Amino acid sequence: ADDQARYRPRLHFAPQRNWMNDPNGLVYFAGEYHLFYQYNPYGDQWGHMSWGHAVSQDLVTWEELAVAIPEQAGEMIFSGSIIVDWDNVSGLGVGGEPPLLAYYTGFDAVADIQRQCLAYSHDRGRTFSFYAGNPVIDLGMAHFRDPKVFWHAPSSAWVMVVALSREHKVQFYRSTNLLDWSLTGSFGPAGATSGQWECPDLMLVPLQNDPLQTRWVLKVDVDAAFVGGGSGAQYFVGKFDGFSFIVDRDSADGDTVDFGPDFYAAISWGELPSEQPGPLWIGWMSNHQTGRFYPTQPWRGAQSLPRTLFVFEEAGRWKLGQRPVASAAKLFEAPQRGVVGDLTVASGPTKGSFHASVSLTVTEGASETMVLVAGDEVLLSIRYEREPGLIFNRNDHGDIPEGSLTFETVTAYPTEGRIAIELFFDSCLVDIFVDGGKRVYSCCVFPEAPAFARVALEQ
Ligand code: FRU
Repeated sequence: ADDQARYRPRLHFAPQRNWMNDPNGLVYFAGEYHLFYQYNPYGDQWGHMSWGHAVSQDLVTWEELAVAIPEQAGEMIFSGSIIVDWDNVSGLGVGGEPPLLAYYTGFDAVADIQRQCLAYSHDRGRTFSFYAGNPVIDLGMAHFRDPKVFWHAPSSAWVMVVALSREHKVQFYRSTNLLDWSLTGSFGPAGATSGQWECPDLMLVPLQNDPLQTRWVLKVDVDAAFVGGGSGAQYFVGKFDGFSFIVDRDSADGDTVDFGPDFYAAISWGELPSEQPGPLWIGWMSNHQTGRFYPTQPWRGAQSLPRTLFVFEEAGRWKLGQRPVASAAKLFEAPQRGVVGDLTVASGPTKGSFHASVSLTVTEGASETMVLVAGDEVLLSIRYEREPGLIFNRNDHGDIPEGSLTFETVTAYPTEGRIAIELFFDSCLVDIFVDGGKRVYSCCVFPEAPAFARVALEQ
């Protein structure tokens, strides 16, 4: 049965079976958080891309529903986003109810063309119809994808950000009727251009210490030769007037979103209820170079814990931080807490999940290391050294091709003294928040069965 499924997580969404990659169409509507995702209904490797669908009330317990937008003859349904057309400006609504509009990239593999298309739903995202006027944007190009649409209130228009993947550009389009789009600006190449640019998102993010102040953050993923040698996400901080994005001088090289190997294609939720702080996003917890080897069954691919975003200043530069959604942290307020030295471990709601927190310190000539182990196996270590800072090392282990899982990443850390590390472990998924989320590291680890992981501290 599925309970016997190999490495199935409990707090992170993973489909019952088959392949999943990017989150798509994140929207809160009619009392449900919607998570659509890139899904292959027919197998556990990438292919037949369709939009799978799950809903949640609390962002940690998910109910998987039927595939919402299946692959069409001659068209795979690539990544994209959903908005609520409250005023029915598209005319696609019926009976006074606002339709959900899904913008996705239609990929015609035979013609090798990617174009932006629209589908709409009248039944809370359970089923979709294709807009008769598709595609809504067609440049006749092969690598043009991942539309993210949002309402830009100051200039009263809908804005779409979308990637020209091989040109390393993000384009900005505007619309007032959600059907006709005009190009107003573009950003890039900039920062990392080692792979294709994918899944852009542009968000207004509050400052950590002054939430009434905000900065625009443009995130774009790079599919190869980036974080630790694999795929990863970068961001730029700047100004956006509804037409084009101007990067801050200090942010022009880009910064790394997540220092781990497994956080990709994140997008933020639309229409968050007032009690849920935002922006809130979720990312695919895998990597384009290694994800196809991950030894999970009969599913492959999970989403990260949902995370709220903030901006903070460091060395005269605006940086992006992430916090685990409150409902995830709450699950670990377990009565049984083990405290070993400075290390606190709380078991989660299910066997195989736990939360660990510790503060590491650095002294002259000595470095502290936090390790995640299973039996004799070291799955992951975080070493704190004065120079260069934090060294994350995910070791080769488990039954995956040798070499495919080695990632060492370093993050220079200017702080002297103690650094707080908070780790969520869930079967095979690890979300690590350093210094209150100012650095984040996400990865998959596959302890050999019978998996029993623990956290130890080494001097
Ligand atoms: C990112 C991505 C997107 C594309 C989708 C296809 O992981 O390559 O650019 O739309 O996956 O599944």
